[in-house]
Amino acid sequence: MGDNAKFSINGEDYEYPVLTGTVGPDVVDIRKLYGQTGAFTYDPGFTSTASCESELTFIDGGEGVLLHRGYPIEQLAEQSSFMEVAHLLLRGELPTADEYSDFTNTITRHTMVHEQLRGFYQGFRRDAHPMAIMCGVVGALSAFYHDSTDINDPAQRMIASHRLVAKMPTIAAMAYKYSIGQPFVYPDNDLSYTGNFLRMTFGVPAEPYEVHPAIEKAMDRIFILHADHEQNASTSTVRLAGSSGANPFACIAAGIACLWGPAHGGANEAALNMLKEIGHPDRIPEYIARAKDKDDPFRLMGFGHRVYKNYDPRASVMQETVREVFETLKVKDPVFDVALQLEEMALNDPYFIDKKLFPNVDFYSGIILSAIGFPTSMFTVLFALARTVGWVAQWNEMISDPGQRIGRPRQLYTGPAKRDYVSIDKR
Ligand code: CMC
Repeated sequence: MGDNAKFSINGEDYEYPVLTGTVGPDVVDIRKLYGQTGAFTYDPGFTSTASCESELTFIDGGEGVLLHRGYPIEQLAEQSSFMEVAHLLLRGELPTADEYSDFTNTITRHTMVHEQLRGFYQGFRRDAHPMAIMCGVVGALSAFYHDSTDINDPAQRMIASHRLVAKMPTIAAMAYKYSIGQPFVYPDNDLSYTGNFLRMTFGVPAEPYEVHPAIEKAMDRIFILHADHEQNASTSTVRLAGSSGANPFACIAAGIACLWGPAHGGANEAALNMLKEIGHPDRIPEYIARAKDKDDPFRLMGFGHRVYKNYDPRASVMQETVREVFETLKVKDPVFDVALQLEEMALNDPYFIDKKLFPNVDFYSGIILSAIGFPTSMFTVLFALARTVGWVAQWNEMISDPGQRIGRPRQLYTGPAKRDYVSIDKR
């Protein structure tokens, strides 16, 4: 703990403890501020507010560092697998060989969904956005699995967590199949987590499907890059929903709803749409000018981040993965050239330099996903699939924290002061 922070209001002096984490900025503990001073703090968007204590993920936005339980994302992306990272996030450590096989076996045995859940898909129009389907179907899981909803029992919490991680690829693939009018494909437990997802998405019952190892590896890496990201909007939504003691499946559905927005996970879809709209490097200056124009709401999608004021380390790995996938599939996409040149132009432009705006994880991911064969409407679904492990790990951490209380922000009220009701004929 560091020195106390001194605070003065209405002529009175107060002191608040300064907490220090393993790494990262000091945190002034103002929990007693309101009780002692009668004042709140004002921080819309939570730019200066830590909402919880966490051991899961650390970001140094200035340096462009992302660690999961201490391990740099670049090392995990390069050397690990999504199942290992899932174990790391959920259970606290990288697994031993036995733990790994036990964990993957557990997840694999939960990949099927209740047969009745299939009926939920039929309720959606066939042109429904897959994220709309995800919000509905994942929320509906809360009506199916009643034996894992005592959130005060750590074993039940872990079962719910395993179910969510395991079923998300099945549910996501079914959302895709429904949108293209193909039959659902059941999971094949002989395949890896990621291989199974690819088969359920791109396979058809009429013929065998062979998982391409390089694509499986690239997809697995994309899942790793999205697995967790500290207290972002959707994770905070999951925590806030969970803080009331809500059903775990419903909490994750709340996270999916939040993720969908274009300022958050929806940016991968928006970024690729933007790159396609630009279409040719000659048009980049026009779009850069629009992004800088205060009177134009347009922003460069896949650019900028609340926390990173440097290159998002996930974007570097993603850019490298685009090259690998293109090489493997022997394809080229002019959109990648547009993206590379857009990045270069923006990074040399004083507007983006001054505001410290760099490419984020969403800038390049869509180019890879599109090369693999996913339509843009599935991009955010894939983000949700991978982020589910982060959400459940954060939710577990919150519930097991003895200091956890229901989340309940305050406000700066600027509406009318108390006034008397006037009947309608006198207004
Ligand atoms: N293009 C142009 N200007 C931008 C951009 C952008 N992409 N991002 C931020 N700015 C400007 C913004 O106009 C503001 O300027 P000023 O100070 O003159 O008003 C300044 O930079 C700070 O922006 P902000 O909106 O106050 O920053 P924020 O921390 O609230 O927002 C953000 C962060 C990610 C929502 C924002 O950068 C953005 O909208 N980016 C585009 C959407 C995007 O790529 N989102 C994905 C984020 S990473 C993955 C994820 O979270 O899912």
